[in-house]
Amino acid sequence: MAGQSSMCILVCGGAGYIGSHTCVALAERGHRVVIADNFSNSSPQVLPRLERITGVPMACERVDLRTKAPLARLFSRYRFDAVVHFAALKAVGESCARPLDYFHNNISGTINLLQAMEHAGVRRLVFSSSATVYGNPEAVPITEEARVEVTNPYGRTKLVVEQLASDLCRANGAFRVANLRYFNPVGAHPSGLIGEDPTGVPNNLMPFICQVAVGRRRKLNVFGGDYPTPDGTGVRDYLHVTDLAEAHTDALEYLASHDGNLTVNLGTGNGISVLELVRAFENASGRSVPFEIVARRPGDVAEVYADPSMARRLLGWRSRLDLDAMCRDAWRWQSMNPEGYRRNRLHPVRRPLVGVGGFVQAQLPSSLT
Ligand SMILES: NC(=O)c1ccc[n+]([C@@H]2O[C@H](COP(=O)([O-])OP(=O)(O)OC[C@H]3O[C@@H](n4cnc5c(N)ncnc54)[C@H](O)[C@@H]3O)[C@@H](O)[C@H]2O)c1
Repeated sequence: MAGQSSMCILVCGGAGYIGSHTCVALAERGHRVVIADNFSNSSPQVLPRLERITGVPMACERVDLRTKAPLARLFSRYRFDAVVHFAALKAVGESCARPLDYFHNNISGTINLLQAMEHAGVRRLVFSSSATVYGNPEAVPITEEARVEVTNPYGRTKLVVEQLASDLCRANGAFRVANLRYFNPVGAHPSGLIGEDPTGVPNNLMPFICQVAVGRRRKLNVFGGDYPTPDGTGVRDYLHVTDLAEAHTDALEYLASHDGNLTVNLGTGNGISVLELVRAFENASGRSVPFEIVARRPGDVAEVYADPSMARRLLGWRSRLDLDAMCRDAWRWQSMNPEGYRRNRLHPVRRPLVGVGGFVQAQLPSSLT
């Protein structure tokens, strides 16, 4: 879906893993990007790297969606055509321990954002939802018509936001919302400059594998080797984060010419087992990934993978990069940035400047200045 005119896009949570890759995709299609992030789970170090990849300055404002006044100021400073909303807490286990924090951040933050949008006359939103809304699926591949089910507070926040966005579109015909239900994003930008940088013990499989391969962790625990799957380990739908990023630009361009509310799955449609992923990673990286099969985790299910045909039909989107590319790019990012954004032996990306009023000014690496 190329060829749309240039838009000014607010990317909430744009400094994070999927958000940063989406900023690249948006800039590469000629859209102007403004990031709003509170850096609760990301680093301002991503900003000069985004500039280095795209060759264009990335405006960024330090804004927390839980506070209304700075949000209102943001909407008065820029004329946004649309918003892409990644800003959320996302750890399932943590959400069970601290549900109120999740409700406040993910639901109240979104309500504040929608109110600011309504006030400013901005009516188009792309929302990061998740396959977690399917809970324990009755059948695979999962279509968008499958039953939804909440199995943890994080999943509840995704479903509630989808539902309130749908109510909003019903009440105000000018609002257009795309709920994108991601399956399992992995990999990194092929430059190795941006990628997934979890704090603490990674909750997701790929960053855990990467940290074992780079020597930060001793071995991988594979939870469950007795599922009714070909090799007994859990099967998921991994998709390359740069493919996923493209889907946001497709969704924005779709919303520019279609009314209402859209909900689509974003996955490859292929189920990959834990052991298949480990083997593919070992091949791509040339490193071995020691693992041990341990007991199943409560709440985990055997197989989850998407039917992505609706995204193809409506958005013209499909995943293009295969498992080998996902592993190769994840490894490039990890090996070039063993400690993530915290320490970079890699290149002369200098500290970004955080200025008055929360404006975060990205300083270009010397090679570009
Ligand atoms: N990564 C996955 O596997 C996955 C799967 C399905 C859905 N999602 C959803 O996609 C979105 C992005 O995920 P990600 O993996 O890039 O996560 P991430 O943590 O890397 O990015 C989220 C960003 O939002 C920011 N943020 C959080 N709360 C904020 C607030 N109140 N105000 C301003 N900024 C705030 C964080 O600092 C971070 O930069 C999230 O909504 C997540 O729930 C992720």
